[in-house]
Amino acid sequence: MRTWTTEERYRELHSADEIIGLHEKIVSSKYRQKFHIQPITGLSSDPNGFVFHKGIWHLYYQYCPWGAVHGLKFWYHVTSKDLVHWTNAGIGMWPDTFFDNKGCHSGSAFSAGDDLYLFYTGNHRDENWVRTPYTCAAKLGPDGKPVKLLQPLFGPRPDYSEHQRDPKVVYVPSQNKYFIFIGAQALDKKGRALIYRSDSLLEGWEFAGELKVPGFEDFGGMWECPCIVRISGKDVLIFSPQYTKLPGRAESTNHNIYLVGSMDYETLTFTPDDTYHYLDFGFDFYAAQFAANVNDPDMAILIGWIGLPDNHYPTEEEDWEGSMSVPRELRLVNGRLVQSPVRDFASICGSARPGSGTIPGPCALEICLPEDAGDFTLKLFTKEDGSGGMSFAYDAAAQTVTADKTQMDLRYNQAVGEVLLVPLESGLKKILVLIDSCSAELFLNDGAASFTTHVYPTETERFYTITGDAQVTLREITPSVKDDFVV
Ligand code: FRU
Repeated sequence: MRTWTTEERYRELHSADEIIGLHEKIVSSKYRQKFHIQPITGLSSDPNGFVFHKGIWHLYYQYCPWGAVHGLKFWYHVTSKDLVHWTNAGIGMWPDTFFDNKGCHSGSAFSAGDDLYLFYTGNHRDENWVRTPYTCAAKLGPDGKPVKLLQPLFGPRPDYSEHQRDPKVVYVPSQNKYFIFIGAQALDKKGRALIYRSDSLLEGWEFAGELKVPGFEDFGGMWECPCIVRISGKDVLIFSPQYTKLPGRAESTNHNIYLVGSMDYETLTFTPDDTYHYLDFGFDFYAAQFAANVNDPDMAILIGWIGLPDNHYPTEEEDWEGSMSVPRELRLVNGRLVQSPVRDFASICGSARPGSGTIPGPCALEICLPEDAGDFTLKLFTKEDGSGGMSFAYDAAAQTVTADKTQMDLRYNQAVGEVLLVPLESGLKKILVLIDSCSAELFLNDGAASFTTHVYPTETERFYTITGDAQVTLREITPSVKDDFVV
């Protein structure tokens, strides 16, 4: 693993010429994704500014141009008409003001009429490296580039720690007001969210108070990327709690959870209907964000970062890492989120053929199990003789799936844990697996549970096996994300 000096990580970027070499070095990597958004160089992390605006989906993501390292963050911009075919639009936000001198950190977008607004955290650091996080805003100009407000909407509150960031803007019709949720940490190092409100998007923001979530007063040390959406008359709150271990998640201290309940914007209280749930059970899924302006009362659209803050991946050797998940449609069924790839994803899936045990490249595997399947094991990325691979062992009595990546050729993040447990609400009947060059996303029982992981198969790890008599259908996937160099 390469060691980076602070100067290297926070180096400013002035022109595309400075990074074209990095791009040329990685385009031919066997791990470049074919239907997932990935960085043109360096690192991609959190999805930002995900929004539907005037017939186009806009997505930005945290981008560090220099390598697989968290340093100076930009927002990189991609657009799509169908959430499946994505085009690189270049760097969408540059850290170039006093307030964001050490990075444009995460945030959200909001479409209002003809205008698109971006809200982000200006990561300011002084000469002693003391951090001041500002909540900043910009409006997209006619050329598609953001015009930043000269002043932040507001600065940090002194009665919380320096960790106050990731503004998510929502409009609440019952109040006829806009609200911003901010991920925060109390001075006693407990995770919190703060709420600001205003009558208009670019001015008048006042601190409304701390978000109260009864039962979650002591739950992790920082709530990154809080986000809220309304689905079928319920509120769904997601956030990424840090600095805590959670059941079934091995040694990881970074998670992404959701709560279903009711949000009262008068008392600033989110009352959960029951306990928390994992948004995804996989090794690598974090900082997910709901798209704004979706306008469907029964469905939300979500995208997450395939990666975790403290993790390291084999493509670090090639100076890049990270990608976005496939965007998902989310619905509520019996108080739980059900997730599936967005509707138009089917447009890049070829005709179905019976699976033959080989992974031909980017593909979707659909595995249907007989009614009384009992225990069985699916192994992805095995050798030709069926050895090795990443296994998913279903225990029918316990209704759990144990995911184990210890038999893969390339091992990494071993200390975080290579074995995870996926508890299911009902017997396992169906698994959809989306396989790209360095990731796999599993949707179990039509999306009642999802499992997202990076995976870096070597040349010989191109097969899969399944015990018992499941029906396996394979569809090849046509590449849908352009890998062109746009800065
Ligand atoms: C989450 C996060 C955010 C922050 C951003 C910086 O991964 O730590 O809280 O805004 O990444 O890149």
